[in-house]
Amino acid sequence: MNESPCQLLDHLRQATRSEHHALDRHPRLNGLLRPGLDLDRYGDALLGLYPAQHYLEQVAGAAIDRLRLDYRLWRRTASLRDDMERLGLTPTEAVLPPMAQPRSHGELIGLLYVLEGSRLGARLLADRVRACLGADTPLSFFADAGGADIWPAFRRFVQVECVQLHGKEDEKEAAASMAQQAFAKFSQSLNVSRPVTTLAIL
Ligand code: HEM
Repeated sequence: MNESPCQLLDHLRQATRSEHHALDRHPRLNGLLRPGLDLDRYGDALLGLYPAQHYLEQVAGAAIDRLRLDYRLWRRTASLRDDMERLGLTPTEAVLPPMAQPRSHGELIGLLYVLEGSRLGARLLADRVRACLGADTPLSFFADAGGADIWPAFRRFVQVECVQLHGKEDEKEAAASMAQQAFAKFSQSLNVSRPVTTLAIL
């Protein structure tokens, strides 16, 4: 499907390329792509992602209501929690430093870009984890991310919003700054250390 260009999304991709790189190379995540992955490392990756996924979905949900945006956010925290519980893990409500709440459409798009964009890599991660750990592995967080449907819908939403934001350079930079802060939240979340005991699928 030919996607019509969206300057704002291209700008966000450029502005967060190094942040994305830092995440997919984080020691708690890069093991997901490597042979020899075991349940402990998989569980540890989910534990590391949980605080940020939970917090950022709450921030985005509140901002969508506050800014009265006509956008439906399909939250993934519940499926992440389900996968962890099936691995015998208890999600940690690690307290992350608070971030600025989105106050404009541009800032909210910056935050949503990270949450919705992360669905794109989820398919790849699900396939790798399933190949290493087997089809019984609790995988709904990655496998049911819905990137193929939700990302095009998000792009269309941004293109409509872009008409209003057109020419507003400050909004473009505000979106990029919010996207960088959201990526930083995931790094903080992954850096909250938590030892993992030996896991089994319940
Ligand atoms: C090992 C971990 C990860 C891998 C292997 C990975 C891989 C990918 C891949 C293959 C894409 C699709 C690129 C494309 O279609 O152009 C993507 C896009 C994206 N990922 Fe990740 N990802 C990982 C972790 C994350 C995390 C933790 C986040 C943030 C929460 C994230 C946020 C994004 C965003 C925002 C995009 C959209 C980029 C764009 O097309 O503008 N990724 N990722």
